Amino acid sequence: MKIKVQRKTLAEYEVDLIDATLLEGLGEIKTTQDNTLTYSSGCRSSVCGSCSMRVNGREVLACSYKVQDADVIEPLKNVPVIRDLVVDMDKAYSFNAKAKAWQTLLSDGADVSHEDEKINEIQSDCILCGSCYSACPVYSVNEEFLGPFALTRVWRYVSDKRESDSSEKIATIQVNGVWDCTLCNECTLVCPQNISSKMDIEKLRSKSAMAGYSDPSFANNFGGGFGFDGSPSF
Ligand code: SF4
Ligand code: SF4
Ligand code: FES
Repeated sequence: MKIKVQRKTLAEYEVDLIDATLLEGLGEIKTTQDNTLTYSSGCRSSVCGSCSMRVNGREVLACSYKVQDADVIEPLKNVPVIRDLVVDMDKAYSFNAKAKAWQTLLSDGADVSHEDEKINEIQSDCILCGSCYSACPVYSVNEEFLGPFALTRVWRYVSDKRESDSSEKIATIQVNGVWDCTLCNECTLVCPQNISSKMDIEKLRSKSAMAGYSDPSFANNFGGGFGFDGSPSF
C-alpha cells in the first residue's frame, strides 16, 4: 500500500505490510526506507498517549489504528510542529495548571462509595494524548481556551467528594473556559478513552450557574441579564 506523510512536504511511501498498525507502518518506513522520519511513541498499547496524530484529518493513536492504502498522515493540529509528526505539547499541557486542575482541599474522612467513584472514573482515564485539543475548533479563534482535556480534569476534581473547596476552580474556568466551548462534540468523537469533554464542560456550566456565574456572551446580548420576573433587562 502507499501512504503519504506530512513532512516539510507531503512525502509518499510504499509500505509492504498487511493488517498492520500505523505505528508499525511508520517503523517499517524508518527502518527500511528513511531513518530521518520522526514520530513519537512509547507503550505501543494505547496507554501512554504519545503516538497521537491525524489520519485523513482525524485524530488517532498510531499504535491502535490499522493503516490503510492512500492514508494521509499529519501531525496534531493547534500545536507547534517540532519535526514531521512530533509536536510541542508544552502550551497545551500548561492549561491543566492554568485551569487549576488538581485537588485543592482534601476533606478529612469523606466517605467515598463505589457510586461516588463512578462519577469521575472515566475522566481519570485520560492519557493526555492531545487528540481532543487537536480536534477542537475553538483554537482557530482563541489560543488561550483552556480546552477539552484540562476542563475534563477540572470536572474530575470538582466532582470528587473528597474536594472540600472547588470555588477557586469554578472561578478560574469562567474566562477562556466553559463558556468558550461551542459544544460541537469533536473532542468526544476522537477520544481513544471514550471521555466526553463536551459533557464534562456542560456539567461544569451547571456547577458554574449554581455558583452564580452565567454565560458572558448571553449577558452581553441582553444588555446585562434578566429582571426578577425572568424578562431580559436592557
Ligand atoms: S465540544 Fe467544546 S471542547 Fe469539545 S471540541 Fe467542541 S468546542 Fe472544543
Ligand atoms: S480527553 Fe481523551 S482525547 Fe483528550 S487528551 Fe484525554 S485521552 Fe486524549
Ligand atoms: S505508543 Fe503509547 S499510546 Fe500509542
